[in-house]
Amino acid sequence: MKCILMNKNTEVLTVEYDSTLHVFTKIIKIHNIDYAPYSLKKLFDNGHEDELKAALSHWFKGRGIPSFRDHLDLLLAHLGVRAPEDLLDKAFGLSLTDQYWLKPKNENIKYQDINFFEHDFSYAPFLEISLSNTPSIVNEVSLKTPNNTTDGKLKKAWVIEDNIRYLLKGGSLIDGLEPFQEVLASIVCRRLGINHVPYTIEIRDGKLLAKCPCFINSNTEFIPASQILEQEVKYSSIEDFNNYVKILTNHGITKAKEKVEAMFLVDFLLLNTDRHLGNFGIIRDVNSLKWLDVAPIFDTGSSYKITDLQEDTIIVSDEGRFFYEVLKFDDIIKLLPKLTKDDFEKLAGVVEEYRCLLEKYAPVVNSSERKIGLLCFLLERQINKLNEVNSNEE
Ligand SMILES: Nc1ncnc2c1ncn2[C@@H]1O[C@H](COP(=O)(O)OP(=O)(O)O)[C@@H](O)[C@H]1O
Ligand SMILES: [Mg+2]
Repeated sequence: MKCILMNKNTEVLTVEYDSTLHVFTKIIKIHNIDYAPYSLKKLFDNGHEDELKAALSHWFKGRGIPSFRDHLDLLLAHLGVRAPEDLLDKAFGLSLTDQYWLKPKNENIKYQDINFFEHDFSYAPFLEISLSNTPSIVNEVSLKTPNNTTDGKLKKAWVIEDNIRYLLKGGSLIDGLEPFQEVLASIVCRRLGINHVPYTIEIRDGKLLAKCPCFINSNTEFIPASQILEQEVKYSSIEDFNNYVKILTNHGITKAKEKVEAMFLVDFLLLNTDRHLGNFGIIRDVNSLKWLDVAPIFDTGSSYKITDLQEDTIIVSDEGRFFYEVLKFDDIIKLLPKLTKDDFEKLAGVVEEYRCLLEKYAPVVNSSERKIGLLCFLLERQINKLNEVNSNEE
């Protein structure tokens, strides 16, 4: 079928879309490539117009629920679809992370009539299926929802409360610690004055979830770092880091270096193993295409990843991501600026705040005093390590 790829109200491409295979078979007309997803625009600018069609299909598929989503088979069975791709076009491909959508060519549909930032959507069935321990069978599942287009491994669901869009995220199947870690990241960022997505704990059906408001609105989009660095990866931490900062700065983002460094500093404190290039990026205005700022820090849940827990020992992953390399946290920290005395003062009492959080919900997740003590020890150890780096260099 003939469709127009739209970015909010702007026509980007007229395309032939195969609604069975969920791929694009032809690019019929380029209207306004500047408004295309950033990676496609770059491909075009670099003279690869012939690759646009394949890249568009790849990008579109990437909007869907990934094949590695926890318990994907159960979710699909409950929704009555074969594969995540079947969900992609059920609600014009709309999402709550950007403003792209597929408009059937001959239909008079307008962004303001359909977008999920301004219009309610059905979420109860999706929430039930995704985040209940024992989901009841939902007969009529509305697929007019941005829940068709969520990324990431963890089970999640967009919901609306008091007209605010919130993302609810479950914990991993292994230790379920992620919601606590998201909140810890928020605590650390709040204290250090780092722009972040504020996560809170939500208990639903006896299950512990992380909850955060949507950081995108109907005038903005999130562009992940993976798209920004596509086609220019150097596979050298420092070179990719410098290049990323340069691109952001050239697009008018102020203090880009400091902001990216602050994110890796938070990752060091939490030993976050999952800062891949889909988990950070920038926010762009979809009307003016102006790059507004780095995205607030989100998805710091994969931290204090316990590999072994004994009576009085805890072993956690000690390697993190730094652009396209996996490095020991102790080496990553050498690449970052030192914390100031003022910063350390702002962190005073953070371990106790973390302990209170863990203790408050200990009965829900059945965690022992011993485990809580060891987790707090980890945070304290990371702060001390930062302190040591400072004193060694003085
Ligand atoms: N608060 C938010 N507002 C808007 N988009 C979000 C928000 N949180 C996450 N996202 C988008 O959803 C994707 C998946 O969420 P994420 O927290 O990374 O889940 P996971 O832990 O499963 O990777 C992110 O990569 C980002 O594109
Ligand atoms: Mg993620």
